[in-house]
Amino acid sequence: MRSFCFRSLVPISALIIALCCTTWADSASMRINLDQTGVTVSPRLYGIFFEDINRCGDGGLYAEMLINRSFEDYNLPIGWTALNEGGSQAALLVAKDHPLNENNPSYLHLEISGTGGRAGVFNQGYKGTMIGGKTPPILPTTDQEKSDPKSKKVVDAMNRFDKLQKESKNGINLEQGKSYRVSLYARSAKSALAGPLTVSLESQNGTVLASHDLPSLADSWKKYEFSLSPSASDPDARFVISSKSSGAVDLDMVSLFPSETFHNRPNGLRKDLAEMLEALHPAFVRFPGGSFGEGVNLTHAFRWKQTIGDLAQRPGQWNIWGYRTTNGLGYHEYLQMCEDLKAEPLFVMNCGMAEKEFVDPDKIGPWVQEALDAIEYANGDASTTWGALRAQAGHPEPFDLQLFEIGNENGMSYSWGGGTPQEYTARYLPFYQKLKEVYPNILTIATAPIQKPPISAPMEVLDEHYYPQASWFEEHAFMYDSYDRKGPKIYVGEYATKPGAGTGNMDAALGEAAFMTGMERNSDLVIMSSYAPLFVNPDWRAWNPNAIVFDSSRVYGTPSYYNQLLFSNNRADVILSMELNATPVPDSKKTSLYAVAGKKNDSGDIIIKAVNITEKPQETTIDLQGTLPSSLSGEATVLAAEKPQDENSFSEPKKIYPKTQPLSGLGSHFTYTFAPYSITVLRLKTK
Ligand code: AHR
Repeated sequence: MRSFCFRSLVPISALIIALCCTTWADSASMRINLDQTGVTVSPRLYGIFFEDINRCGDGGLYAEMLINRSFEDYNLPIGWTALNEGGSQAALLVAKDHPLNENNPSYLHLEISGTGGRAGVFNQGYKGTMIGGKTPPILPTTDQEKSDPKSKKVVDAMNRFDKLQKESKNGINLEQGKSYRVSLYARSAKSALAGPLTVSLESQNGTVLASHDLPSLADSWKKYEFSLSPSASDPDARFVISSKSSGAVDLDMVSLFPSETFHNRPNGLRKDLAEMLEALHPAFVRFPGGSFGEGVNLTHAFRWKQTIGDLAQRPGQWNIWGYRTTNGLGYHEYLQMCEDLKAEPLFVMNCGMAEKEFVDPDKIGPWVQEALDAIEYANGDASTTWGALRAQAGHPEPFDLQLFEIGNENGMSYSWGGGTPQEYTARYLPFYQKLKEVYPNILTIATAPIQKPPISAPMEVLDEHYYPQASWFEEHAFMYDSYDRKGPKIYVGEYATKPGAGTGNMDAALGEAAFMTGMERNSDLVIMSSYAPLFVNPDWRAWNPNAIVFDSSRVYGTPSYYNQLLFSNNRADVILSMELNATPVPDSKKTSLYAVAGKKNDSGDIIIKAVNITEKPQETTIDLQGTLPSSLSGEATVLAAEKPQDENSFSEPKKIYPKTQPLSGLGSHFTYTFAPYSITVLRLKTK
């Protein structure tokens, strides 16, 4: 049997007693003392971490429905296909002369010729465009190849994209009864179109679901905006720009947005995906990365000043996860998302270290100033330079940014963040010192343990990342019990079971849950945590596994997602003393049952979280000691699977899903059987 209670009361190793494991069920016991409270659980313990990975920013949470809206992706009309019907033909060219603005140097030049039909171009959203992960197909490299629409590499690349799109059924998701906002820049200067340009939403077979005519176009760039309401729903639709007339037209910033977004923000978030985040009630949101924030080179780093203001002026960036990100979901939108989720923002700023390039420490000044300006943008009043821009963007009130991470995975040899602890310290220190001088209340987070000799840098919070197998988490569920309390506080900023996790199975969630009982029990030290990554579009699975899986019309949570939901929505305020006796798992440092108990200050609710990692039910006697409430009722919420390899899927999205049942027979002594392969929350109400 294995017992544990407060780290300070009983050494765990002293309490391990062997038990025969051949019965159909294991027996276990929990003794919880209601009068003996332990550490206060940090209100920030359960947050989330969002980074644009796996096509989950553009093409996912960011509600833009068209891929490559500004024609900057690879300098090819990637995602845009010529439409030739009847005797009409379209030629597409990504052109650069007289662009919309210098941050947006490419646009689509569309030439329509012939008569008797219609011709133009269509976009199917993020439909299978990049099936298969990080490596893009062979793409043209020289300027000549890129600008010649007949070059073999252009033709090959476009053919490959067309083929991938045909393999997928996840085009643009249209819902009848909803409206969609179109905006685009167009001009028709040379060989002007003789007739109207039609913008339509269509099914794959060409059935028009909504359309709008632009009778004549200006001869210089002009923005056109209107709404379309489809006459039927279609999860695999396309967006078409066409004409029955000959002539040429230039197009840029062609955008299709659902009018309904999360909190109905213009340029907002896809509602169903954001609601998955909202359900977690995250204490904070860490953004925008992750490796995404670092970039391969510094030119690919997330520089927040290039991500605010007019969308057409945002240059976007090459995303280290293998595609281009528009940064339409930019710094302001991230802060707004935090506000809408009622979560604190945690901004991770590149500290001058990309995967393959570092800023010289003596040139780090402007980067530090960029950090100060980011805080002023978020928190300064409208009389400050950057606060004024925020107010101009429609948010006069401050966003209250209090959490600031200096870099990501820098000083850690295993990561793209790279650099030695010394190289990181040389860049971290100027940030830390200036931030604490100007904004003493901002809580700073470091990415490497830089307090170990020969380095000795001040550190408030250390961000630790873990991606091992489930058994590692289970064997390390007690590691924080004996962590050094004299060092920095710990933020477990990224963690997830990786090897053996399938595409997000129950085994992964069990490992994470076992570990989380240890985080919560030691929340005086572990003050924050966030699972990673959050989302994946399986057509672009650059990282596996992830908490939430989506395509253009569907979404489901993995068992790890529901595990996060259970812990986050049942966070205790204070830990209660618990002595747990459970069966050790043979030939391992694991135990069959992991648990933590705590109490809510306002309601007095007693919350017991337990994780059964085995195939056997755990028949557990629960003794409540100390001052007992006069009445006790409660419920059990259980996330369980038949097999550890079980997963949810688009066809069975709730195969593994929390189920709540009332508890009976509660008192100072009662029995509860924890189901095989389960994560359970017992919530005992004392009033
Ligand atoms: O979460 C996926 C990646 O893992 C993050 O971008 C990076 O910080 C870590 O290596």
